[in-house]
Amino acid sequence: MNADAKDTFKQKAFGKTPDGIAVQLYTLRNSQGMEVKITNYGGIVVSVLVPDKNGKIGDVLLGFDGLDGYLKGNPYFGAIVGRYGNRIAKGRFALGGKTYTLATNNNENHLHGGLKGFDKAVWKAEPFSSVEGVGLKLHYLSTDGEEGYPGNLDVTVIYTLTRHNELRIEYAATTDKPTVVNLTNHSYFNLAGKGTILEHELLINADKFVPVDKGLIPTGQLQSVKGTPMDFTTPEKIGGRISQDFEQLKIGGGYDHCYVLNGPRIHNLAVKAFCASSGRLLELFTTEPAVQLYTGNFLDGTLEGKGGQIYQKRSGFCLETEHYPDSPNQPAFPPVILNPGQKYSTTTVYKFSVASSISGGSK
Ligand code: GLA
Repeated sequence: MNADAKDTFKQKAFGKTPDGIAVQLYTLRNSQGMEVKITNYGGIVVSVLVPDKNGKIGDVLLGFDGLDGYLKGNPYFGAIVGRYGNRIAKGRFALGGKTYTLATNNNENHLHGGLKGFDKAVWKAEPFSSVEGVGLKLHYLSTDGEEGYPGNLDVTVIYTLTRHNELRIEYAATTDKPTVVNLTNHSYFNLAGKGTILEHELLINADKFVPVDKGLIPTGQLQSVKGTPMDFTTPEKIGGRISQDFEQLKIGGGYDHCYVLNGPRIHNLAVKAFCASSGRLLELFTTEPAVQLYTGNFLDGTLEGKGGQIYQKRSGFCLETEHYPDSPNQPAFPPVILNPGQKYSTTTVYKFSVASSISGGSK
């Protein structure tokens, strides 16, 4: 580490959207040498550069070198997802005695905010520096009726790169009509920087998960992970049991499930992911009640990413902090309704370090 190193911030043109709007690429760098690139198109985290056990800096995020890759259509690489991360059955829900019909973009269901979700919006961006590090404040006004949702939703997402090698995301929103909100980030991590993530170890602080039907819509029950390949309450390799003959894994084509986090949690620690070959450890902290583990089951080798890398099945995994899928239609699930006068506010932190095992990291 360079003793004189400072937190820095850079901005450059990243290209134009099909409607001719110029978007920027912002580079945040901390005094430890960690670097995060974010574009205000979709609020996408384009890269996260962190050291490995030999001090070699590498990119642990899937994505593209230029804006074109993101515009061509991609499975939400690095993006802010909203208004509703995950699925809403049949793109319908009732609120205040009215039924709302949303855009359906995942067979008969609504997924990740619809046809033009927050991942495709151009956000207003404002860089800042604070006592903790450097950051980017993003703002987007989602208008009443957008993708079928009621209410003008005023959304702010603040990314901060701290001096402790954390990428913190603070989500906030207000509305002028009752609506539903479930914001998340869809970054795909690969702590080795290449290959698949099957050898990564995971620890998930969850005794239960949300079982789904064939359309990946919750059945409405919660199921214990105990004695099943869904159990990551003690460290297990992602690939260790992924191909087992277990109905939920067959339905998801691997892990594509919402884990109900145990509470209360020390510092809100939700998940740890460790890659022995690189020594990189990722710790996930969140105020959200759940996290969707998605193991890149739909990646199929058709996307050419950064540096010409071909993203094969399971080249990355997502940890989407959220409320449970289809909550607007599931009265027993924690509510996702936001009313005028209330403030939606959640925080998720991705912390990177180097460790000799998954038991390393924050205490
Ligand atoms: C989510 C879903 C997956 C898939 C990916 C994007 O994580 O749960 O089923 O749609 O997004 O490919």
